[in-house]
Amino acid sequence: MRTFEGNTGSIQLGNLTVHRIGLGTNRITDTDAAASLLRRAIELGVNFIDTADVYQHGQSESTIAKTLAPYRAGLVIATKGGMSWQDSSAVNDPNYLHDALDASMKRLKLNCIDLYQLHRTDPKIPIEATAQVLKEMLDRGKVRHLGLSEVTVEQIERYRSIVEITSVQNQYNLLERKHEAVLDYCEANGIAFIPWYPLAKAKLTHETLTRIAGAHNASASQIAIAWLLARSPAMLPIPGTLSVRHLEENIAAITISLSGEEFEELSAIAIAPQALA
Ligand SMILES: NC(=O)c1ccc[n+]([C@@H]2O[C@H](COP(=O)([O-])OP(=O)(O)OC[C@H]3O[C@@H](n4cnc5c(N)ncnc54)[C@H](OP(=O)(O)O)[C@@H]3O)[C@@H](O)[C@H]2O)c1
Repeated sequence: MRTFEGNTGSIQLGNLTVHRIGLGTNRITDTDAAASLLRRAIELGVNFIDTADVYQHGQSESTIAKTLAPYRAGLVIATKGGMSWQDSSAVNDPNYLHDALDASMKRLKLNCIDLYQLHRTDPKIPIEATAQVLKEMLDRGKVRHLGLSEVTVEQIERYRSIVEITSVQNQYNLLERKHEAVLDYCEANGIAFIPWYPLAKAKLTHETLTRIAGAHNASASQIAIAWLLARSPAMLPIPGTLSVRHLEENIAAITISLSGEEFEELSAIAIAPQALA
């Protein structure tokens, strides 16, 4: 079994190595500003970009391709399928998933997706049947690695009984920690954990956070990212932004080193949610 060793500036996704801070692109549309943001991310060394077919009805994927294709070596574009474009419900019918993958490949101008993530698990379909569909994607060479999103440990184990799972993307941040057990499971099993809403949608206000940010001459967002990175070597945050200034700030968080005491103080924030401002 692959395990994570030490807390370095990069993380393994199967046989791919990526910088530990990626970019979330769910608000990216076909604009010059978005293109500049994507290009700046690459300049800064970001080589993991998270998207999905449903983001802006395909525009996130197509703008990534329009701006960055042909892609430079080592750039990992992770996308997702399995969610309805109409109402965001889970749709895991085999034909729907295969068609969604083909459509993402076309929009992204890729003949193989480095990391394809099942966006949601459809309660109407047995997990083992969906896992078979994911396995077919791998076997057909259309996908290099597979990931899941918003899953429990029990669900991950059922998928893994059929097919190798490389990443799990669940909601997780300093303030919302309902998936601690999933994170621990991922770390123990060499699965990358990609927290969504890593910045709690920018609602990061807390006295402890403000004080520690001040001590590091850093922003609350940077401390939230530093805390995630310190929490587990399996962590691969994907802060979402449309602002070049915020992007630069978020990537610079890799240099922040929290003391053990600061880490514990920050960890206690979510345990006392009534203290949230
Ligand atoms: N798997 C799933 O089901 C799922 C669900 C939701 C999201 N996601 C993924 O997770 C990614 C991240 O989630 P998210 O973007 O919704 O939430 P987020 O990263 O927690 O927060 C994004 C918000 O923070 C702001 N922000 C970013 N950097 C900042 C900074 N340095 N200082 C102050 N504000 C800052 C952004 O505004 P500005 O544009 O002004 O910077 C935006 O309002 C998404 O892009 C998407 O790829 C996945």
